Amino acid sequence: MTGLTGPHITLKLATSLDGRIALANGQSQWITGEEARSAVHRLRSEHDVVLTGIGTVLADDPQLTVRLAGYEGDQPGRVVLDTRLRTPETARLFDEGGPLLFMCGADVPAHIRATLEVRGAAVEIINRYDGPHISLKAAIRRIRELDGQGIMIEAGARLAASAVKLDLIDRIEWFRAPKLLGGDGLPVMAALGLERLDQAPIFERTRISECGADLHETYIRKRA
Ligand SMILES: NC(=O)c1ccc[n+]([C@@H]2O[C@H](COP(=O)([O-])OP(=O)(O)OC[C@H]3O[C@@H](n4cnc5c(N)ncnc54)[C@H](OP(=O)(O)O)[C@@H]3O)[C@@H](O)[C@H]2O)c1
Repeated sequence: MTGLTGPHITLKLATSLDGRIALANGQSQWITGEEARSAVHRLRSEHDVVLTGIGTVLADDPQLTVRLAGYEGDQPGRVVLDTRLRTPETARLFDEGGPLLFMCGADVPAHIRATLEVRGAAVEIINRYDGPHISLKAAIRRIRELDGQGIMIEAGARLAASAVKLDLIDRIEWFRAPKLLGGDGLPVMAALGLERLDQAPIFERTRISECGADLHETYIRKRA
């Protein structure tokens, strides 16, 4: 159970003890163990949509499907924010899984969009930009229109930070492995640009459990 009803956004994070998601050379699979990965599959099954960024697609080539023994429920939709549509046609996202939607900028040529469409994906243009990227807020609005009420973000530091900056995250599911990757590892979150501690978003921990050798913590956003 997600514990949240109605439209909500979950941020899933899998890190080392010191909040790193990859080594400096990009190696990231696998920081957490098998039990944590199964728990992530269960979380996917509880959401309508898994949302990621092109950075994760290029680094990890994920499928973002529910792969659990005996699972016969729906597969979540997959949405990729990919401003310039850099996803290769060979990405494993095309192999199997729920509906696949790429969101890109208005200036991506139609023939590039067509290469992903012939692979079975939908491509939608998002007209609004946040700096160099398409607007996350506009993307979420569109996902909601398509009936994606429960959204889980499984992405790298950049999309995670965009979502936190917009205060979109209602819940964090954090899997923490008992490993230290050090300050040269990639941090879980890109810059938030905070200038005072009282600007930091606060979350309340509502659950903590062991997940194999890892720790699984659930946090709910505390809004005033
Ligand atoms: N441990 C975990 O839980 C976990 C999960 C996933 C990924 N990762 C790791 O994260 C790393 C990749 O990190 P990343 O930051 O490059 O990937 P990301 O957050 O998945 O994707 C970032 C990219 O998404 C695109 N994007 C489009 N609209 C955006 C918006 N409004 N805000 C932010 N991004 C937007 C941007 O590229 P364009 O502007 O070109 O579209 C941006 O560079 C890899 O090492 C991967 O292994 C870890």
